[in-house]
Amino acid sequence: MIWIFPLLVLLYLTLTRRWRSKNEPPLDQGLIPWLGHALEFGKDVPKFINRMKLKHGNIFTVRVAGRYVTLLLDPHSYDAVINDSDSLDFSPYAQVLMRRIFNLELPLQQPAKAKAMMTRHFLGMNLSTLNSTMSRHLRSLLKSEMLHNQRNWKEEGLFNLSYGLLFKAGYLTLFGGEQNNNKPDPSKVYEEYRKFDDLLCKLARGTLKAEEKKAAQTVQTRLWELLAPAGLTDDSGSDTWLHAYRQLLQEDGVDEETQRKAMLMQLWASQGNVGPAAFWLLGYLLTNPEALVAVKREFGQLSQMEDSGTPLLDRPMNTPVFDSVLEETLRLTAAPFITREVVQDKILSMADGQEYLLRKGDRVCLFPFISPQMDPEIYREPQKFKYDRFMNKDGSVKKDFYKGGKRLKYYTMPWGAGANGCVGKQFAINAIRKFVYMLLTNYDLELCEPNAQMPEINASRYGFGMLQPEGDLLIRYKPRNTQQ
Ligand code: HEM
Repeated sequence: MIWIFPLLVLLYLTLTRRWRSKNEPPLDQGLIPWLGHALEFGKDVPKFINRMKLKHGNIFTVRVAGRYVTLLLDPHSYDAVINDSDSLDFSPYAQVLMRRIFNLELPLQQPAKAKAMMTRHFLGMNLSTLNSTMSRHLRSLLKSEMLHNQRNWKEEGLFNLSYGLLFKAGYLTLFGGEQNNNKPDPSKVYEEYRKFDDLLCKLARGTLKAEEKKAAQTVQTRLWELLAPAGLTDDSGSDTWLHAYRQLLQEDGVDEETQRKAMLMQLWASQGNVGPAAFWLLGYLLTNPEALVAVKREFGQLSQMEDSGTPLLDRPMNTPVFDSVLEETLRLTAAPFITREVVQDKILSMADGQEYLLRKGDRVCLFPFISPQMDPEIYREPQKFKYDRFMNKDGSVKKDFYKGGKRLKYYTMPWGAGANGCVGKQFAINAIRKFVYMLLTNYDLELCEPNAQMPEINASRYGFGMLQPEGDLLIRYKPRNTQQ
C-alpha cells in the first residue's frame, strides 16, 4: 500500500503539468508544483524576467501561482497586444486586483462608463480648471509647511515631502471640494493612505500574514469612513469628476458601502503615482548638479515671464529641459505590468515574423521597464540618469530611438498605451511640474548630506506603477526672499 501515495503524487503532477504545443511560446513551469516561479517572481521581478529572457528570448510562458503568464519583451511587437482588445481583455485582471486590493466588485459595464466619463473630465477646459485648483492647493500647502519669514532650514525626507504635498493637494482638488468642518483633514487621509499603500503589493499578491491582514482591514475601514463624503455633494458649483462618478455608481444601483470602496480605488489610481514620481525627479536633480542647474535656468526664464501677472504652468508650457528630465526619471522608475487576459485563443504575430499561439485563460504581460526602458541596445548606460537623454542638440524633443536598426514606436511606456492608457497623464505632468517649479523657484533646497546617493528601490513594488524607495533621501529647505 505504501506505493499508493507516491503514485498519487506522480499522477497529480502529471495531470497538473502543462505540455507545450508546437506553436506556443517556450514554456517554463519551474520546479514547484502549482506555485511554479511565484517565489522568485515576487522577490525580484526584473532579475527573474531577465533570467528567463536570457534563457528563452523575447517571449515565453511561465507558471506563477497556478496561472500561466506569457511575457512579451519585444517593444516592436507590443501593438499586437495593445491593439487587440477583442482577444486580450484589460477588465478580468483589473477586476481581480479590485477584489484583492479594495474588496470591491462593480457591475461589469461600470468601469468602461467610468473611464469614458473620467476622460471627459480630464481634458480641455475641465483640465485647465483642475490644474489651477491643484496649483492653488499646492501653493497654500507649501506655505503652511513653512512660515514665509522662517529663516532656518527645515529638514525632511524628500519622499515624504513630495508624496505628502502632492497627495494632499490632489486629494483636495479631486476629493475634498472646499474645506469646511465636516470634511476630513487631508493630513489624516494621507497618514492612513500611506499605511494602506505599504500593504498594497501584498494585498495584490494575496501574501499578507495574519496580523497584516488585520492591519489592512483596519486601515481600509478607516479610509472608507474618511472618504464617505467624497463626491456626494457638488460643492464646487461645477460638474466635478467625483460627483459625476458617484452619480454613475448610484444609477448603476451600486450600494453606499461599495461606493466608498470605489472611492478608495479612485484615490489610489489618482494619487498613488504622482508623489513618488516627483520624489525620484527631485532626487535625481539634487544628486546631478548639472541637471539641477539646467532645470533651474529654464524655470528662471519662466518665472521672469510670470512677473507680468499671468499664472504660467497652469496651461501647456514649453519646458523641454524639464520634460526630458521627467521622461528620463520615468524611464528609470516607472515599472507597471501591462496585463491582459486571453479571452479567446489568439495567434500573436511578432515583428520578426514569428507567430505564437496564446491560450484562452492565460494572461499576457508586457513589462516595459526591461524593454524598452532599461534595454542597453536602446539606451547607452541604461542604469544612469542623463537629464538630456530626451532632447536633441537644438533643444527639441528627441523621439527617435532604435532597436535592431528599426525605429521604436514605444521607447518608454510609463503611462501604459492604447485604449487603457492613463487618463490622468496631463494632469499628473502638470502637477509634478508645478510642484518642482514652486520648490525650486521659491525655496532653497539641498541634500542634508552633500554626497548622498539615491536610495535603493523597494524591490517588492515592481509591477505596480511607480517604484518607491527603500528608506528616504534627507533634504533641507527654506524660503527664498521671493514668494510664489
Ligand atoms: C505619475 C503619475 C501616473 C502614472 C505613472 C500613471 C500610470 C498609469 C498606467 C501605466 C496606466 C495603465 C495601466 C494598464 O494599461 O494596465 C494607468 C491607467 C490609469 N490611470 Fe494613471 N498614472 C499616473 C497618474 C494618474 C492620475 C493623476 C490619474 C487621475 C487623475 C490617473 C488615472 C488613471 C486611470 C483612471 C487609469 C485606468 C485607465 C483604464 O481604465 O483604462 N493616473 N495609469
